[in-house]
Amino acid sequence: MRRIAVLTSGGDGPALNACIRAVAREAFHHGLKVYGVRWGYKGLINGEIDELTSRDVGGIMNRGGTFLGTARCPEFKELKVRRTALRQMNQEGIEGLVVIGGNGSLAGALALHEMGFPTFGVPASIDNDINGTDMAVGVDTTLNTILDAIDRIKDTAASHQRAFLVEVMGRDCGYLALASGIAGGAELILVPEHEGPSLETIADTVVEAYTRGKAHCILVIAEGWKPGTQAVADYLSARKAELGFDVRVTVLGHVQRGGRPSAYDRLLATRMGAYAADHLIDGESGQMAAMRGNVLESFPLAEAVKTLKPLNLALLGLSEVMD
Ligand code: ADP
Ligand code: F6P
Repeated sequence: MRRIAVLTSGGDGPALNACIRAVAREAFHHGLKVYGVRWGYKGLINGEIDELTSRDVGGIMNRGGTFLGTARCPEFKELKVRRTALRQMNQEGIEGLVVIGGNGSLAGALALHEMGFPTFGVPASIDNDINGTDMAVGVDTTLNTILDAIDRIKDTAASHQRAFLVEVMGRDCGYLALASGIAGGAELILVPEHEGPSLETIADTVVEAYTRGKAHCILVIAEGWKPGTQAVADYLSARKAELGFDVRVTVLGHVQRGGRPSAYDRLLATRMGAYAADHLIDGESGQMAAMRGNVLESFPLAEAVKTLKPLNLALLGLSEVMD
């Protein structure tokens, strides 16, 4: 192999730049030329592919976002559209592709592999919902961003004796809510994978926290939990006089996706990016870098994208013991 390309696709997250840098520098180390694809699969179809130099990937390790850009490109699911992408890469003499992204992006990498084009994936999703890897790139930084917010909210919650509902990202997966709720000392954690208590029981939990003399009461709610954060807020607000406390809602939103990557994420992104380039160059395809028990392994994309990684719901029990 003499030329490979790299792209970031789907939802962005922290440490994508560190990962692109690692892919490129590992490939340079092997004497290859490296091409950066702009705007994920959209750029691949449109031929927005430029050669990268070592300097192009310098000074980006500490920056959030992705300097290549990312996009959603639903048409990439069509065979004829993917054929156009392959033509674009052939024109540049590109013989392999590293895809950095979440479940959808990795499904795209698998689809190219099944068409006979060598691909290797790096799991990057703040939701940590990719099967086969203990951690995905970006998760740790996002958790730290959420914890910083929860710590700040606790200060104001305690000052006013208010209950705070903190909504975190996770449309289909409650990992961020579960992990940040435990690490942030939340009274209650609500995730899409578990029905959770009734609104009445949630209200009782808050009242009980204050009765036990707690200075604050924080509920961490994943955005995908039903009936939703606003339903809890409306229920508690409607019973404000009876319950004896006020409620406030903080929706953290896209602040969770940006920011300077943590040390852990920079290391993970660097290790996974280098691993992906190395194994692609060695002739492996249709696989992704996976962290399993703190060891990097090669994991089949077909297994990775088959289902979402199940949430360890037993940890909800741990949070109950700790509250
Ligand atoms: P993420 O990678 O963050 O999970 P998406 O699910 O939005 O984000 O997927 C990102 C992109 O990956 C999609 O817009 C599409 O271009 C591509 N993709 C998703 N699923 C497939 C698929 N089954 N086959 C080919 N490409 C896909
Ligand atoms: O998959 C990551 C994620 O942050 C989800 O938790 C969230 O629901 C979604 O992306 C939001 O994506 P966007 O705002 O880019 O559509």
